[in-house]
Amino acid sequence: MSFIFSHKIYRNLSNYRLKIFIISESIYPSVSFSNQNVNKQNFLKQNLKQYITTTTSLEKPVFITTPIFYVNAVPHIGHLYSAVMADSLKRYYELNDKKVILSTGTDEHGLKIQQAAAKVNQSPQEFCDNVSKRFRELFDMANISYTTFIRTTEQKHKDAVKFFWEQLVNNGYIYKGIHEGWYSVSDEAFYSASQVQISNSDEKIANVSESGQLVEWTEEENYKFRLSKCKDELLRWLDENPDVITPSNRFNEVKAFIKSDLADISVSRPQSRLYWGVSVPEDFNQTIYVWLDALINYLTVTGYPWPSQENIINNHLTSGWPADVHIVGKDIIRFHAVYWPAFLMAAKLPLPRKIFAHSHWMMNKHKMSKSRGNVVDPFIVMKEYGVDTIRYYLMRDGGISDDGTYDPTILQTRYRKDLAGQLGNLVSRSTSLALNPSSTIPASPSFIEGVNEKDMTLFKMLQQLPDLVSDHYENIEFGKGLELIFETVAEANKHFTDNEPWNLIKNPNRKVILDRVLFFAVETARISGILLQPIMPTKMRELLDMIGVSNDERKWKHSRLGSGWQVKGGGNVKFNVKDGHFLFPK
Ligand code: MSP
Repeated sequence: MSFIFSHKIYRNLSNYRLKIFIISESIYPSVSFSNQNVNKQNFLKQNLKQYITTTTSLEKPVFITTPIFYVNAVPHIGHLYSAVMADSLKRYYELNDKKVILSTGTDEHGLKIQQAAAKVNQSPQEFCDNVSKRFRELFDMANISYTTFIRTTEQKHKDAVKFFWEQLVNNGYIYKGIHEGWYSVSDEAFYSASQVQISNSDEKIANVSESGQLVEWTEEENYKFRLSKCKDELLRWLDENPDVITPSNRFNEVKAFIKSDLADISVSRPQSRLYWGVSVPEDFNQTIYVWLDALINYLTVTGYPWPSQENIINNHLTSGWPADVHIVGKDIIRFHAVYWPAFLMAAKLPLPRKIFAHSHWMMNKHKMSKSRGNVVDPFIVMKEYGVDTIRYYLMRDGGISDDGTYDPTILQTRYRKDLAGQLGNLVSRSTSLALNPSSTIPASPSFIEGVNEKDMTLFKMLQQLPDLVSDHYENIEFGKGLELIFETVAEANKHFTDNEPWNLIKNPNRKVILDRVLFFAVETARISGILLQPIMPTKMRELLDMIGVSNDERKWKHSRLGSGWQVKGGGNVKFNVKDGHFLFPK
């Protein structure tokens, strides 16, 4: 008996403290792989996923987070990028029958917000309310299906921060000290002398930190966190979890940082300078550092402090903690991959399973940011091009390891060529009344038996597509998954044209061939429609409605070649198309 046991699946099983199943071929004795060229390992993997889902009611939900967004300025397209990525991942897991928590929200404390509010003569709370609302409106408009929208000014969050602080104190990680150094209000971060350089403009204060932001000299008494004490444990954590920070260039960066320089950090500011925040318990003269405050949001949304901490940690019952993926931009990797794990270690809590750091959207060769003024308003572009077009563009062309440039010409080309020219065209062709006057699925899924040489390229691409896309999506490489889907759609359009269905229809003896050509086209649209749902949820609902795919057959497992249209049975399914209506109008 041969055993097939994917490492990834094993890890999940052991994480959830489930019984360990050994899946052998004997579970699926009746499956024959020889004639359909189906990859046996993938088949078992797919079915094992289903098996796990149906047998584990205590399964920990997948917990995905976006960063919480500063409310010092209104949102731009770079912010939306983190959120669409997290939402696409959530929707992918849901298609695989996972329960998912997706948290997002706004980061509302700190000097930066305090100053921004003062500038427009508003109280900080009023200022935060207005801008936080804008982020929520953005995410609602962009179909970000968050399960929690957290604001750090909420009482439950402030309580969580205080409780967490007390754990750090009780465990001996906090002491009072004098801090001397450079502070960047824009980054809300302290920098050491080596990270600061003198700028030409104003030598007194206008030094430039490594992030390019202004820094100012500060000398003050505050509480410090013993980060230095965490060095060995952090390095061990990285060694034992080589995939915990991705992509790998970020992993290496973080490791080098931990190795080189791990001084204790300030975790409070005098109340006289920073009043807009959470006070240190028992010391009203100090306000907790905004990054410590902000990171704890990931715990607050799980209900922390939990009623029975031990039980939740040991059984992962309902809280969702630890996070499965923190999605962040590369500019905030240090906070998430060094400070946050260190804080958690000090509080004796489990560490996140993955920190995924994407790169930035650039405009005119600089990171898009409000302070530079080179931003794209996401509300305007979504109105102009459609929500799903923007979601598609962001996921298709956004940078992971390297920065990407926001370019309206490329966005327009993506719409014209990929969405209207390839996918929209395929749907129109496959449901064309001229070629298929009955407007029903032209053949039953058993069409596979009639596959010939001419169909082979497309046939193989469709067979492999769901597993390949699944791997890319799970690695949060949406661009790669989308590329494969659109290559397959292009191949389906080629297959259609090469077979010249407009000639086949003239000869009744060739009806079987015509039906197969039409079936390949509509089957490609069905499979692609299912796989594209995480990225373009609204448009893909429309697509699947148009070609008559039942609501019960839109899960990931239905994306296998020939596994759709089972509910009503092949040829009985009617298309839902109206003359002159296009999925992606030109
Ligand atoms: N408030 C902190 C995060 C605290 S999380 C505990 C923060 N906020 S932010 O509003 O400045 O940034 C939020 C996210 O937007 C970050 O992941 C950041 O990388 C991302 N982006 C901001 N500008 C961006 C681009 N130009 N391109 C891509 N992502 C960008 O940092």
